[in-house]
Amino acid sequence: MDLQRVGEACDRIVEEICKIYVGDDLLVRKVLAAALANGHVLLEDNPGLGKTLLAKTMAGSIGCKFSRIQFTPDLLPADILGTKVWRQKDGSFELLKGPVFTNILLADEINRSPPKTQSALLEVMEERQVTIEGETHRLAAPFFAMGTQNPIEYEGTYPLPEAQMDRFLLRLSTGYAETLERERLILARRVDWKKDDPTMDLKPVITAQRFRSLQKAVENDVYVDDVILRYIAEIVRKTREHPQVDVGSSPRGGLALLKASRAMALIRGRDFVTPDDVKTFVLDALSHRLILRLEHALEGVRERDIVKEIAGNVPVPKDFRPR
Ligand SMILES: Nc1ncnc2c1ncn2[C@@H]1O[C@H](COP(=O)(O)OP(=O)(O)O)[C@@H](O)[C@H]1O
Ligand SMILES: [Mg+2]
Repeated sequence: MDLQRVGEACDRIVEEICKIYVGDDLLVRKVLAAALANGHVLLEDNPGLGKTLLAKTMAGSIGCKFSRIQFTPDLLPADILGTKVWRQKDGSFELLKGPVFTNILLADEINRSPPKTQSALLEVMEERQVTIEGETHRLAAPFFAMGTQNPIEYEGTYPLPEAQMDRFLLRLSTGYAETLERERLILARRVDWKKDDPTMDLKPVITAQRFRSLQKAVENDVYVDDVILRYIAEIVRKTREHPQVDVGSSPRGGLALLKASRAMALIRGRDFVTPDDVKTFVLDALSHRLILRLEHALEGVRERDIVKEIAGNVPVPKDFRPR
Protein backbone atom coordinates (compact mmCIF):
# COMPACT_ATOMS: atom_id res chain seq x y z
CA MET A 1 0.00 0.00 0.00
CA ASP A 2 1.33 3.41 -0.99
CA LEU A 3 0.54 5.48 2.09
CA GLN A 4 1.19 8.77 0.44
CA ARG A 5 -1.25 8.00 -2.35
CA VAL A 6 -3.87 6.85 0.12
CA GLY A 7 -3.50 10.10 2.07
CA GLU A 8 -3.77 12.08 -1.15
CA ALA A 9 -6.92 10.23 -2.24
CA CYS A 10 -8.51 11.06 1.11
CA ASP A 11 -7.48 14.71 0.81
CA ARG A 12 -9.08 14.84 -2.62
CA ILE A 13 -12.38 13.53 -1.27
CA VAL A 14 -12.35 16.09 1.54
CA GLU A 15 -11.47 18.89 -0.89
CA GLU A 16 -14.31 17.93 -3.23
CA ILE A 17 -16.82 17.92 -0.40
CA CYS A 18 -15.61 21.28 0.88
CA LYS A 19 -16.27 22.82 -2.54
CA ILE A 20 -19.94 22.43 -1.66
CA TYR A 21 -20.19 22.06 2.10
CA VAL A 22 -18.83 24.99 4.07
CA GLY A 23 -17.38 23.80 7.35
CA ASP A 24 -14.58 22.22 9.25
CA ASP A 25 -12.09 19.98 7.47
CA LEU A 26 -11.94 17.88 10.59
CA LEU A 27 -15.67 17.22 10.62
CA VAL A 28 -15.54 16.11 6.98
CA ARG A 29 -12.56 13.87 7.77
CA LYS A 30 -14.52 12.30 10.60
CA VAL A 31 -17.45 11.49 8.32
CA LEU A 32 -14.97 10.02 5.86
CA ALA A 33 -13.36 7.97 8.62
CA ALA A 34 -16.73 6.45 9.49
CA ALA A 35 -17.27 5.63 5.81
CA LEU A 36 -13.84 4.03 5.52
CA ALA A 37 -14.54 1.99 8.63
CA ASN A 38 -17.81 0.89 7.00
CA GLY A 39 -19.57 2.38 10.02
CA HIS A 40 -22.86 4.22 10.33
CA VAL A 41 -22.77 7.85 11.27
CA LEU A 42 -25.47 9.97 12.84
CA LEU A 43 -25.48 13.69 12.12
CA GLU A 44 -27.48 15.41 14.80
CA ASP A 45 -28.21 19.12 14.92
CA ASN A 46 -30.81 21.81 14.53
CA PRO A 47 -32.65 22.13 11.21
CA GLY A 48 -30.92 23.90 8.35
CA LEU A 49 -27.31 23.36 9.39
CA GLY A 50 -26.23 21.37 6.34
CA LYS A 51 -26.66 17.82 7.66
CA THR A 52 -28.42 16.53 4.57
CA LEU A 53 -26.04 18.46 2.36
CA LEU A 54 -22.96 16.98 4.01
CA ALA A 55 -24.30 13.42 3.87
CA LYS A 56 -25.34 13.79 0.24
CA THR A 57 -22.03 15.29 -0.76
CA MET A 58 -20.06 12.54 0.95
CA ALA A 59 -22.18 9.87 -0.70
CA GLY A 60 -21.83 11.49 -4.10
CA SER A 61 -18.07 11.88 -4.03
CA ILE A 62 -17.06 8.27 -3.46
CA GLY A 63 -18.48 6.60 -6.53
CA CYS A 64 -20.71 4.12 -4.71
CA LYS A 65 -24.40 3.53 -5.25
CA PHE A 66 -26.47 5.54 -2.84
CA SER A 67 -30.10 6.09 -2.08
CA ARG A 68 -31.98 8.38 0.18
CA ILE A 69 -34.96 7.78 2.38
CA GLN A 70 -36.84 10.73 3.80
CA PHE A 71 -38.31 9.53 7.09
CA THR A 72 -41.84 10.75 7.69
CA PRO A 73 -44.50 9.85 10.26
CA ASP A 74 -46.32 7.58 7.78
CA LEU A 75 -43.28 5.73 6.41
CA LEU A 76 -43.66 1.94 6.72
CA PRO A 77 -41.00 -0.76 7.10
CA ALA A 78 -41.87 -2.09 3.63
CA ASP A 79 -41.10 1.34 2.14
CA ILE A 80 -37.53 0.87 3.31
CA LEU A 81 -36.96 -2.85 2.92
CA GLY A 82 -39.04 -3.74 -0.08
CA THR A 83 -41.97 -6.01 -0.62
CA LYS A 84 -43.22 -8.97 -2.61
CA VAL A 85 -45.79 -8.36 -5.27
CA TRP A 86 -47.96 -10.87 -7.11
CA ARG A 87 -47.30 -11.06 -10.85
CA GLN A 88 -50.46 -12.34 -12.47
CA LYS A 89 -48.86 -13.18 -15.80
CA ASP A 90 -46.04 -15.26 -14.28
CA GLY A 91 -48.22 -16.64 -11.56
CA SER A 92 -45.61 -15.91 -8.92
CA PHE A 93 -44.40 -13.34 -6.42
CA GLU A 94 -41.65 -10.93 -7.37
CA LEU A 95 -39.40 -9.15 -4.92
CA LEU A 96 -39.41 -5.38 -5.26
CA LYS A 97 -36.25 -4.32 -3.51
CA GLY A 98 -36.50 -1.25 -1.29
CA PRO A 99 -34.02 1.60 -1.05
CA VAL A 100 -31.86 -0.21 1.54
CA PHE A 101 -30.45 -2.32 -1.29
CA THR A 102 -27.62 0.08 -1.93
CA ASN A 103 -24.08 0.89 -0.77
CA ILE A 104 -24.62 4.16 1.02
CA LEU A 105 -27.96 4.83 2.59
CA LEU A 106 -28.96 8.34 3.43
CA ALA A 107 -31.52 8.04 6.19
CA ASP A 108 -32.81 11.56 6.49
CA GLU A 109 -34.55 12.72 9.67
CA ILE A 110 -34.75 9.24 11.18
CA ASN A 111 -36.52 10.39 14.29
CA ARG A 112 -39.56 11.62 12.39
CA SER A 113 -40.74 8.04 11.86
CA PRO A 114 -42.36 5.87 14.53
CA PRO A 115 -40.38 3.12 16.29
CA LYS A 116 -41.51 0.25 14.05
CA THR A 117 -40.04 1.87 10.98
CA GLN A 118 -36.92 2.97 12.82
CA SER A 119 -36.25 -0.52 14.01
CA ALA A 120 -36.59 -1.92 10.48
CA LEU A 121 -33.77 0.40 9.49
CA LEU A 122 -31.67 -0.24 12.55
CA GLU A 123 -31.94 -3.99 12.09
CA VAL A 124 -30.59 -3.68 8.58
CA MET A 125 -27.78 -1.49 9.87
CA GLU A 126 -26.80 -4.07 12.43
CA GLU A 127 -27.21 -7.27 10.44
CA ARG A 128 -26.37 -5.90 6.99
CA GLN A 129 -29.10 -8.14 5.68
CA VAL A 130 -32.78 -7.80 4.95
CA THR A 131 -35.53 -10.27 5.71
CA ILE A 132 -38.69 -9.98 3.64
CA GLU A 133 -41.44 -12.48 4.28
CA GLY A 134 -39.07 -15.03 5.70
CA GLU A 135 -36.46 -14.72 2.94
CA THR A 136 -33.11 -13.27 3.90
CA HIS A 137 -31.04 -11.19 1.50
CA ARG A 138 -27.47 -10.14 2.27
CA LEU A 139 -26.52 -6.61 1.32
CA ALA A 140 -23.50 -6.09 -0.92
CA ALA A 141 -20.43 -4.47 0.65
CA PRO A 142 -19.78 -1.68 1.26
CA PHE A 143 -22.92 -0.87 3.14
CA PHE A 144 -23.28 1.94 5.61
CA ALA A 145 -25.89 4.46 6.58
CA MET A 146 -25.58 8.16 7.13
CA GLY A 147 -28.47 9.20 9.27
CA THR A 148 -29.56 12.69 10.18
CA GLN A 149 -31.86 13.88 12.91
CA ASN A 150 -32.97 17.00 14.67
CA PRO A 151 -32.46 17.09 18.41
CA ILE A 152 -35.16 15.26 20.29
CA GLU A 153 -36.61 18.38 21.87
CA TYR A 154 -38.28 19.13 18.55
CA GLU A 155 -41.97 18.43 18.38
CA GLY A 156 -43.22 15.50 16.31
CA THR A 157 -40.15 13.35 16.78
CA TYR A 158 -39.74 9.84 18.11
CA PRO A 159 -36.40 9.63 19.92
CA LEU A 160 -34.22 6.67 18.93
CA PRO A 161 -33.98 4.17 21.78
CA GLU A 162 -30.56 4.02 23.46
CA ALA A 163 -29.99 0.47 22.24
CA GLN A 164 -30.33 1.72 18.70
CA MET A 165 -28.06 4.71 19.21
CA ASP A 166 -25.36 2.18 20.02
CA ARG A 167 -25.39 1.02 16.40
CA PHE A 168 -23.95 4.24 15.14
CA LEU A 169 -20.17 4.24 14.99
CA LEU A 170 -20.09 8.00 15.49
CA ARG A 171 -22.51 10.73 16.40
CA LEU A 172 -21.45 14.08 15.00
CA SER A 173 -22.97 17.50 14.84
CA THR A 174 -22.42 20.00 12.08
CA GLY A 175 -22.80 23.13 14.20
CA TYR A 176 -23.28 26.70 13.04
CA ALA A 177 -20.79 28.40 10.73
CA GLU A 178 -17.86 29.31 12.92
CA THR A 179 -16.95 32.64 11.41
CA LEU A 180 -18.65 35.48 9.61
CA GLU A 181 -16.59 34.61 6.53
CA ARG A 182 -18.02 31.07 6.45
CA GLU A 183 -21.54 32.40 6.91
CA ARG A 184 -20.90 34.67 3.92
CA LEU A 185 -19.45 31.82 1.89
CA ILE A 186 -22.60 29.71 2.37
CA LEU A 187 -24.57 32.56 0.83
CA ALA A 188 -22.04 33.35 -1.87
CA ARG A 189 -22.12 29.81 -3.17
CA ARG A 190 -25.86 30.01 -3.63
CA VAL A 191 -26.20 33.45 -5.19
CA ASP A 192 -27.10 31.61 -8.38
CA TRP A 193 -30.67 30.50 -7.64
CA LYS A 194 -30.93 28.23 -10.65
CA LYS A 195 -28.61 25.81 -8.95
CA ASP A 196 -31.26 24.80 -6.53
CA ASP A 197 -29.47 21.61 -5.63
CA PRO A 198 -25.86 22.46 -4.82
CA THR A 199 -24.87 18.79 -5.24
CA MET A 200 -26.03 18.74 -8.87
CA ASP A 201 -22.54 19.06 -10.38
CA LEU A 202 -20.90 16.74 -7.90
CA LYS A 203 -18.61 14.12 -9.43
CA PRO A 204 -17.10 11.12 -7.67
CA VAL A 205 -13.37 11.58 -7.09
CA ILE A 206 -12.66 7.89 -6.58
CA THR A 207 -14.26 4.73 -7.94
CA ALA A 208 -16.30 2.36 -5.82
CA GLN A 209 -13.60 -0.24 -6.29
CA ARG A 210 -10.87 2.08 -5.02
CA PHE A 211 -13.04 3.04 -2.08
CA ARG A 212 -13.52 -0.61 -1.22
CA SER A 213 -9.76 -1.13 -1.33
CA LEU A 214 -9.30 1.75 1.12
CA GLN A 215 -11.84 0.16 3.43
CA LYS A 216 -9.91 -3.08 3.30
CA ALA A 217 -6.67 -1.26 4.05
CA VAL A 218 -8.20 0.18 7.23
CA GLU A 219 -9.03 -3.33 8.32
CA ASN A 220 -5.86 -5.11 7.26
CA ASP A 221 -2.98 -2.68 7.06
CA VAL A 222 -3.27 -0.28 9.98
CA TYR A 223 -1.32 -1.43 13.00
CA VAL A 224 -2.50 -0.80 16.56
CA ASP A 225 -0.05 -1.20 19.41
CA ASP A 226 -1.23 -2.98 22.52
CA VAL A 227 -0.60 0.17 24.58
CA ILE A 228 -3.21 1.95 22.44
CA LEU A 229 -5.72 -0.85 22.93
CA ARG A 230 -5.23 -0.51 26.65
CA TYR A 231 -5.72 3.25 26.42
CA ILE A 232 -9.08 2.75 24.69
CA ALA A 233 -10.11 0.02 27.12
CA GLU A 234 -9.33 2.22 30.09
CA ILE A 235 -11.41 5.12 28.79
CA VAL A 236 -14.33 2.80 28.04
CA ARG A 237 -14.23 1.20 31.49
CA LYS A 238 -14.10 4.57 33.22
CA THR A 239 -17.41 5.51 31.59
CA ARG A 240 -19.00 2.64 33.51
CA GLU A 241 -17.48 3.66 36.84
CA HIS A 242 -18.37 7.33 36.72
CA PRO A 243 -20.69 8.31 39.60
CA GLN A 244 -23.03 10.36 37.41
CA VAL A 245 -23.46 7.59 34.82
CA ASP A 246 -26.18 4.97 35.00
CA VAL A 247 -25.17 2.92 31.96
CA GLY A 248 -21.67 3.35 30.55
CA SER A 249 -20.30 2.56 27.12
CA SER A 250 -20.81 -0.91 25.69
CA PRO A 251 -17.82 -2.85 24.35
CA ARG A 252 -19.16 -1.82 20.97
CA GLY A 253 -18.21 1.73 21.93
CA GLY A 254 -14.60 0.67 22.39
CA LEU A 255 -14.64 -1.11 19.05
CA ALA A 256 -16.07 1.99 17.41
CA LEU A 257 -13.26 4.08 18.86
CA LEU A 258 -10.73 1.59 17.57
CA LYS A 259 -12.20 1.41 14.07
CA ALA A 260 -12.56 5.15 13.65
CA SER A 261 -9.00 5.72 14.90
CA ARG A 262 -7.58 3.26 12.39
CA ALA A 263 -9.46 4.94 9.56
CA MET A 264 -8.21 8.35 10.69
CA ALA A 265 -4.63 7.06 10.79
CA LEU A 266 -4.94 6.13 7.12
CA ILE A 267 -6.58 9.45 6.24
CA ARG A 268 -3.61 11.15 7.88
CA GLY A 269 -1.25 9.05 5.74
CA ARG A 270 -0.04 6.64 8.44
CA ASP A 271 -0.28 2.88 8.83
CA PHE A 272 -0.33 2.91 12.63
CA VAL A 273 -2.64 4.46 15.20
CA THR A 274 -1.43 7.21 17.55
CA PRO A 275 -3.07 8.27 20.82
CA ASP A 276 -4.06 11.45 19.03
CA ASP A 277 -6.19 9.48 16.54
CA VAL A 278 -8.00 8.01 19.52
CA LYS A 279 -8.46 11.37 21.22
CA THR A 280 -9.95 12.76 18.01
CA PHE A 281 -12.92 10.42 18.36
CA VAL A 282 -13.44 9.92 22.08
CA LEU A 283 -16.46 12.23 22.28
CA ASP A 284 -17.99 11.24 18.94
CA ALA A 285 -17.64 7.50 19.49
CA LEU A 286 -18.71 7.26 23.12
CA SER A 287 -21.00 10.03 24.31
CA HIS A 288 -24.16 8.77 22.56
CA ARG A 289 -23.79 5.41 24.32
CA LEU A 290 -23.97 6.76 27.85
CA ILE A 291 -27.10 6.99 29.94
CA LEU A 292 -26.82 9.43 32.83
CA ARG A 293 -28.42 8.98 36.21
CA LEU A 294 -31.76 10.70 36.04
CA GLU A 295 -30.99 13.34 38.67
CA HIS A 296 -27.87 14.44 36.82
CA ALA A 297 -29.59 14.42 33.46
CA LEU A 298 -32.24 16.70 34.96
CA GLU A 299 -29.54 18.98 36.35
CA GLY A 300 -28.40 19.48 32.77
CA VAL A 301 -25.19 17.44 32.92
CA ARG A 302 -24.30 16.34 29.41
CA GLU A 303 -22.79 13.05 28.27
CA ARG A 304 -20.13 14.85 26.30
CA ASP A 305 -18.85 16.68 29.38
CA ILE A 306 -18.51 13.42 31.26
CA VAL A 307 -16.63 11.71 28.45
CA LYS A 308 -14.40 14.77 28.16
CA GLU A 309 -13.65 14.66 31.88
CA ILE A 310 -12.84 10.96 31.71
CA ALA A 311 -10.59 11.32 28.66
CA GLY A 312 -8.78 14.13 30.43
CA ASN A 313 -8.03 11.90 33.42
CA VAL A 314 -6.75 8.82 31.63
CA PRO A 315 -2.99 9.12 31.06
CA VAL A 316 -2.11 9.34 27.38
CA PRO A 317 0.37 6.60 26.45
CA LYS A 318 3.74 7.93 25.31
CA ASP A 319 5.68 4.78 24.51
CA PHE A 320 3.70 3.12 21.78
CA ARG A 321 5.34 1.19 18.97
CA PRO A 322 4.54 2.57 15.54
CA ARG A 323 4.89 -0.89 13.98
N1 LIG B 1 -22.37 24.49 6.08
C1 LIG B 1 -23.08 24.70 4.95
N2 LIG B 1 -22.45 24.78 3.76
C2 LIG B 1 -23.13 24.98 2.62
N3 LIG B 1 -24.46 25.11 2.56
C3 LIG B 1 -25.15 25.04 3.70
C4 LIG B 1 -24.49 24.82 4.96
N4 LIG B 1 -25.42 24.78 5.93
C5 LIG B 1 -26.60 24.95 5.31
N5 LIG B 1 -26.46 25.13 3.97
C6 LIG B 1 -27.52 25.31 2.98
O1 LIG B 1 -28.71 25.50 3.73
C7 LIG B 1 -29.77 24.67 3.26
C8 LIG B 1 -30.21 23.69 4.36
O2 LIG B 1 -29.26 22.65 4.51
P1 LIG B 1 -29.67 21.14 4.83
O3 LIG B 1 -28.50 20.28 4.54
O4 LIG B 1 -30.91 20.78 4.10
O5 LIG B 1 -29.92 21.25 6.40
P2 LIG B 1 -30.37 20.14 7.45
O6 LIG B 1 -30.40 18.83 6.74
O7 LIG B 1 -29.34 20.22 8.52
O8 LIG B 1 -31.71 20.58 7.94
C9 LIG B 1 -29.26 23.97 2.04
O9 LIG B 1 -29.71 24.67 0.92
C10 LIG B 1 -27.76 24.05 2.15
O10 LIG B 1 -27.25 24.14 0.88
MG1 LIG C 1 -32.03 17.68 6.37
